[in-house]
Amino acid sequence: MITVKQLTRTLSAQRSTQLARLVPGGVNSPFRSFHEVGGHTIFFSKAQGSRLFDIDGNTYLDYLGAWGPAILGHSHPAIVAACQDALAHGPVFGAPHELELELATRMVEYIESLEQVRFVNSGTEAVMSAVRLARGATGRSKLVILEGCYHGHSDSVLASSRHQSSLGIPQPSADQSFLIEFNNAHALAECFQSWGDEIAAVLMEPVAGSMCVIPPEAGYLQEVRRLCTKYGALLIFDEVLTGCRIRLGGAQELYGVKPDLSCFGKALGGGMPIGAYGGPEAIMRNLFPVGRVYQAGTFSGNPVTMAGGIEILRLLSEPGIFTELERKSARFFAGLWQAIEQTKVPVRLQRAGSMFSIVFSGQPVKNFSDSLAVDTKAYARFFHYLLDRGIYMPPTAVDAACLSAAHTNEEIDFTIDICRQAFEDVRI
Ligand SMILES: Cc1ncc(COP(=O)(O)O)c(C=O)c1O
Repeated sequence: MITVKQLTRTLSAQRSTQLARLVPGGVNSPFRSFHEVGGHTIFFSKAQGSRLFDIDGNTYLDYLGAWGPAILGHSHPAIVAACQDALAHGPVFGAPHELELELATRMVEYIESLEQVRFVNSGTEAVMSAVRLARGATGRSKLVILEGCYHGHSDSVLASSRHQSSLGIPQPSADQSFLIEFNNAHALAECFQSWGDEIAAVLMEPVAGSMCVIPPEAGYLQEVRRLCTKYGALLIFDEVLTGCRIRLGGAQELYGVKPDLSCFGKALGGGMPIGAYGGPEAIMRNLFPVGRVYQAGTFSGNPVTMAGGIEILRLLSEPGIFTELERKSARFFAGLWQAIEQTKVPVRLQRAGSMFSIVFSGQPVKNFSDSLAVDTKAYARFFHYLLDRGIYMPPTAVDAACLSAAHTNEEIDFTIDICRQAFEDVRI
């Protein structure tokens, strides 16, 4: 039986103020800040399974999932053991080792579109490198990006996200990108008609995750694939969030569309900082030292991260894991949906596998402009209502929340119950 306790967070509030004096905004990644929902950030001391533990002694049921990585919950014992073992042998060699071979072998085995892969340290690095590779391989410079998709914070791709107003991006870099609406194949076709022979690649999240979870409409990914092939542009799927989460082989496995290049990160590391990008050998051989597209990294493919990746792929490849995750997600959503219908709040649910959004909007979110209509103030009230009862959701109204295999039925039912109360009490 899960009970609701009164939570105080005095120490977190102090630490939050202290850190903000030393680190801008008190966060090393702006997503983490509470600027959208208000209040102090929480300082955590431990993450285990479906739970987060803060420095004031409070426990939270976690639906942030560390922004994606924690698909099996936090600190899975087998992953921790594998990483500890690798660490004991040396955290970085600056030279090849067998764990890289094993993880690359597994990835190529599980993800059909990959013949070769390069490991890097984050999703940002993976996408940035894949875009350079696409430009180098095609000899073209223009990039199509889809409004509202987030691909990390490198110059060429930030314009697609809701952080497009960032200063510091040189105009010539921004001028190389076309921004097209997500789920709008017609707009993409028009762009190709005008610029077809200059477009190096279409970069997209196959399921959008940063403007609410938005699955692709039926036939959309197939049409994007067809247009890219027709105009000789590469299709890059950013599967940093969806890879190893929607299916072991990512969204490309679920929707049956084969990109030319794919980017991974988050869940692939089992909690360790990872990024990876890959595709057919014919494209990947453009990378230095075989070809002339340069990309490098001191910590890329380090043994501890590779050990985390191998272990998570081993665990995720066990039969039934994605069926079980789907069952839990369906249970969660059926309960939430019932709560919404009972309380008659203008809230929608959008999900793809175990990534989901509780959307405070009267209309479905299908693209970036729809996401601007989300009631962020109502979400902030909902967020704090849950937080005060020991449930941690993303501190932004539109970023994907994540369920993990570690969540129990009891925890899911408890969450549904608290959400129902929130819908009633918060005057959403
Ligand atoms: C789809 C997608 N691509 C790229 C990134 C960037 O990854 P990282 O934060 O590891 O640099 C993210 C992170 O949220 C993401 O969701």
